[in-house]
Amino acid sequence: MEFKFNEENQNKLNTIISHYPVKKAAVMGALWLAQEQSGWISGEVMKEVANQLEMTLEEVLGVVTFYTMYNQKPMGKFHLQVCTNVSCMLRGGALIFDHIKLKLGIDDMHVTDDKMFSLEEVECMGSCGTAPMIAINEDYFENLNISEVDNILESLKNKN
Ligand code: FES
Repeated sequence: MEFKFNEENQNKLNTIISHYPVKKAAVMGALWLAQEQSGWISGEVMKEVANQLEMTLEEVLGVVTFYTMYNQKPMGKFHLQVCTNVSCMLRGGALIFDHIKLKLGIDDMHVTDDKMFSLEEVECMGSCGTAPMIAINEDYFENLNISEVDNILESLKNKN
């Protein structure tokens, strides 16, 4: 399905573009706006971004595949990114990741049947001092333990 930025996001994108000497420098912001709007980065999204920023599709694809923050397939309403890098791992991050897998019945990069949750194991998200941590959509949850994770998941289920 063809992708077009809605009016609000097009205005935001125009502002981002205006901050740079060349349009292609706005690619990360453009992709982030597109993902906020459509939930993931489809081929149609990449085409539109390439078109607006005068880039090749391959250049846009290179950015999308390099950064883990861009979803290359539809994710759940609540996308859980669990850090298992060194600081988080030493403080239980891997246990939290395994616990969520079991609790939701999904594996890495999968989505629950009801499309509520998706799970992703990620590298350091820059919050090592408050490890272990997870990000849910754009919010960080830090200094976690298993029972706090359970509480968070329960509260999100109630937001359905
Ligand atoms: S190691 Fe987990 S946030 Fe840095």
